[in-house]
Parts: sequence; structure tokens; C-alpha cells
Amino acid sequence: MSNRAAARLHGYQTAIWGELTAMSNRLGATNLGQGFPSWDAEPFLKDGAIKAIAGRDYASSMALQRPLGSTNNPNSGVPTQFPVVPLNQYTRSAGHMPLVNRVADMYTEILGCKIDPMTNVLITNGATQAIFNVTQALLNPGDEAIVIDPAYDSYAPCIELAGAKPVHVPLTRVEPHGPDKKNPVLVDAHSPIAQCPTSAEFVLDAEVLERSVTPGKTKLIFVNNPHNPSGKLFSLAELTQIANIAIKHDLVVVSDEVYEFMIYPPVQKLARMASIPGMFERTVTFGSAGKTFSVTGWKIGWCVGPPSIIHPMFLHHQYTVYSVATPLQDAVSSAIANAPEHDYYARLIRTLREKRDKLCNVLHDVGLTPFVPEGAYFVLADTSRVRFPEDDVVKRYEAKGQKLSRDFAFAYWLMEEIGVAAIPPSIFYSPENKHLASNLVRFCFCKDDSILDAAATKLQKLRPFIL
Ligand SMILES: Cc1ncc(COP(=O)(O)O)c(C=O)c1O
Repeated sequence: MSNRAAARLHGYQTAIWGELTAMSNRLGATNLGQGFPSWDAEPFLKDGAIKAIAGRDYASSMALQRPLGSTNNPNSGVPTQFPVVPLNQYTRSAGHMPLVNRVADMYTEILGCKIDPMTNVLITNGATQAIFNVTQALLNPGDEAIVIDPAYDSYAPCIELAGAKPVHVPLTRVEPHGPDKKNPVLVDAHSPIAQCPTSAEFVLDAEVLERSVTPGKTKLIFVNNPHNPSGKLFSLAELTQIANIAIKHDLVVVSDEVYEFMIYPPVQKLARMASIPGMFERTVTFGSAGKTFSVTGWKIGWCVGPPSIIHPMFLHHQYTVYSVATPLQDAVSSAIANAPEHDYYARLIRTLREKRDKLCNVLHDVGLTPFVPEGAYFVLADTSRVRFPEDDVVKRYEAKGQKLSRDFAFAYWLMEEIGVAAIPPSIFYSPENKHLASNLVRFCFCKDDSILDAAATKLQKLRPFIL
């Protein structure tokens, strides 16, 4: 096959997600890999979408049966007074007004400053489009953008596609200090996992961050809070350190907060970059209905920020996407309005926290030490005590032309021999930092209890391999 790909795509490979899912399906493994919920959206969400498509207040079967291209001809059997239903057509390019208004109200409350629906909000095709869009809108060829490793795997490619250079700063592991050497209690103190490390052990060294700024070239810093893959919550103090560097060097912060509503007690409130004094003007915050409402297939995201960021993003958006699915934007707007009445956010946290504890208990019990996450729906676990036949796995894949790092070898072995699919976290690291993932594996716990129970049973087979 001749290579017709533009030079900017050279070196890119198909992302690992599809391959791992296909492999997991082929092997009949229990899939705790890709981060999407195994459950269906709640009825109040689906009703909003169904009504929006069917004709919000006029969802008669007659309307649903109206043949494609038919007119309101009385002879067609369709009432002449067939109502105008605009929700299946293009909507406003920067975002459907009912949703834009809701997002503005929601963030006025969250950030503590007035968000203007017309100038401070852009609706995108999920946060993934927002990531591409912000890099295209704000970076020039030759610029630099800072990525905190491990990071969502689209940040660096999008920076590169804008002709800019990603500069990677790793989170490093710092064990807790203090008399009992314990992390803040995130779980019932009597639970066995109260003794486990937590995602708070992954910390950012602000000095290293500042040294990675190239004056005149660095334009953006990507911060993901709550953090995928670790589940770390950046504290206000940590965000303030980043903010000080951003202000000093005139940088924009891209605050990817797609897991904003998944934070576990004792933390009650997510620290927000954009509400730190002086930061609103230089921060764009990303949210995702896919994550918040467990509808990852809907691909509706939002961006909140000052006009100096939102307007260039809109300029790019209008020519590349134009507008995002109107009925789904409408449904997300009613979901945000109806969520409190359904106690949605509190239930989401309770459900996910129970699942987190269930999976972490199993991991701890079988000898894979979990870093109990403070937020999001992933858990990293330490695999260094597992004596699996790494050399055999590496050789087997070498014969097929694939060179495996330890975390990949472990993930493949876990899927093939133990029957559980998980993610090798080196995919979230830049080449220079991949070694930091050698002894880690990422599981996700946004899965039905039956799936978590099946994984628990299979993970028992790890015991003989634990040192
Ligand atoms: C940190 C992070 N940002 C962005 C996204 C993409 O969100 P969306 O599905 O809304 O495009 C994901 C999805 O996994 C993610 O983990």
C-alpha cells in the first residue's frame, strides 16, 4: 500500500484502545481496560434525547411515521398543522443556546464568577475535539506546550499536529511523611485498603515544571484534574504553584476537568484552576457530558474560558465542525437541569466509590498494591511483586515484530493467562518517561458489579505468582 499520509502523520500508529479491546473480546477476557461505563444511561437522560429527536412536545406516532421528504400535504396523511421541530437541524455553531445557558449557570456557581453564555462557552464534539481545537487555535509552529506525564494520550499528538513541541514533565512518586506514614484517609479506616498508598503519592515538582518553560516559546500547560490514569486530585496548593508559573511566564492553562464530578470523600469540592485569582483570564476548562452522564458515545463536551481563548477556538470550530449534534446538546441541557432532582451527582459518587473500594480490595488482597484513587474511575496498581514469565512474553511478541516494555508484557500476560484486560500505562507517558510505568497497570472500575466480581475471581489466579 502506498503511503499517502501527510508528513505530519508520519510515525503515528493506531491507538492501542481498539487493539486491546479486540484482543480482550477474542480471548473472552473480563475487560477493565478502556474507561467507559458498562451501564446504560439513566432514563432521565435518554428521555431527553428521545424527546429532542421525536419533537420535544409533539412526539406523536404520526410525527414519527412522517416519511422522509414528505410535505405537509393533507393527502399524505400527515396533519397540516405538523409542528416545526428544529431540533434535528443545525444549531448555533458555538453551541445550542439551552445548553450554553445551562453550562454558563453551572460554571458561574462552580467558579464563583459570572460566565457569559455568549462569549465564555463553546460546545464541542466531546473534550477530545476541544483538545485538538485549543492546540490549533492557540499554538504556532515552533511553540511549546507542557504536558504532565502520565497524560491523556491525545494531548501530545494534537500539540504536534499544530506544529508545536510537547515538553513533558513527569509526576513523581513521593511516599507520605509524618508519624504514621499514611496518606489522608480516603476509605473506611477499618478497611484493608486504608493502609494502601493513594493517588496523592503522585506529585508534580514545581521547580522541574518551571525549568521546562522556554521563555517566548512555551504557550500552554495541560493540567488534568481529576487525573487520568492515576485518579489524583490536584490540591489548591498544587494548582496555585502551577498558576504562579503560568502568570509569571504568561501561559494559558488548559484545565481538562472531564472527571470533575467524580471525587471521593473526604474531598468534597474539586479545586478549580480557573477560580484561582488571576487565572480565569488565562484558563480554559474542559468538561464532558460523556464522562459526567455516562454517555461517552454522545460526544458532547464544553469549554469555559475568557473570550481571548474561546473566540479563537470558535473560529477553528466553525470551519472544522460547525456545530455539534443538536438533539444531544438539548438532552444534555435537560440532563444538567434535571440532575439535582434525581440526586444524580451524589449517587454517581456513591456508586463509583463502592466500586473503587471493591476493586482496590481485590487488588490489595491478591498482591497488586493499588494506589487508591481520590477521583475519576481508574486505579493504578503496582505490579512489582508479580513474578510473571516476562521474558517468554517478550520473546513471543518479538517474534511477531512487537517490542514490549514490562508493563505491556504484564498487561498482555494478564489478559492471556489470567483473563483480565487492563491498560499498560506507558501509553500515557512520553518516550523519555515510559520507564516510570514499568511496574504499573491501570484498571477501570466503572463496570457493573458482575464484571468486577468476574475479574475478582480471575485475579485470584495471580496468587502463585506473587513474591
Ligand atoms: C483526561 C481525558 N480528557 C479527555 C477525554 C475525552 O473526553 P470525551 O469523551 O468527552 O471526548 C478523556 C477520555 O477518556 C480523558 O480521559
